[in-house]
Amino acid sequence: MRLEVEVLDTEEEVGRRAAQLVADELAAGRLGAFGVATGSSPAQVYASLAAGRLPGWDGVEVFALDEYVGLPPGHPQSYAAVIDREVRAPLGLDPGRVHVPDGAAEDLTGACDAYERALEERGGVDVQLLGIGATGHIGFNEPGSPFDSRTRVVDLTERTVADNARFFASADDVPRRAVTQGIGTIARARRHVLIALGAAKAAVVRAALEGEVSEECPASALRTFEDVLVLLDPGAASQLTRRPASRRSPAGAR
Ligand code: GLP
Repeated sequence: MRLEVEVLDTEEEVGRRAAQLVADELAAGRLGAFGVATGSSPAQVYASLAAGRLPGWDGVEVFALDEYVGLPPGHPQSYAAVIDREVRAPLGLDPGRVHVPDGAAEDLTGACDAYERALEERGGVDVQLLGIGATGHIGFNEPGSPFDSRTRVVDLTERTVADNARFFASADDVPRRAVTQGIGTIARARRHVLIALGAAKAAVVRAALEGEVSEECPASALRTFEDVLVLLDPGAASQLTRRPASRRSPAGAR
């Protein structure tokens, strides 16, 4: 088991560091399936990967972590639309290789099971990007989510609804439910990269890395995973009491 924490000076450096890890896996022919996250944290990773114009994306399958329940298909804030805009189009991927749970399905349980099967058939995700919510959620696994949970329908906490209201006209427009890969589903990825940016994440980052490993903080499950890299900016790292390894930009400039 390996969990490394690195603090980089800027959001751009965090993005480049994560993109480098993904690019190395791609170049080595080890990126059969790429697990992508939504939210602000991974934006620079996708920008950096797109700027790299790397060969070899053709055969890569992309799997999203989660999707809102109840948004009409094509809604600009559905994660299917977000992944299409922020990942598929910039990387020039075939839409047929991009998988997002179906939050608009009539049979949501069936859609969850189908998503688990698709992941299994692909042999699981090779590199999984993750953000962390203020509640400690990964994907949309809110506190109390069992560590062996699978893809399922979940209720969002009021805190998560409030945090995600910035993407909608008002908090009333934010769906209250979502489909998310379970923590047990996420755990099966070969490697994980968790990104947290800004002082607003400092408390939850500390809880996840230094608090109890418990369902009360879903991201603490990372400490039970095989191979995890946590990338932080100085704000997100500011409440850690144990000093993580730091990396600087190649020029060493601060
Ligand atoms: C959303 C997503 C998560 C994401 C989290 C943090 O709720 N479902 O997958 O990690 O928000 O988002 P951000 O990176 O914008 O802080």
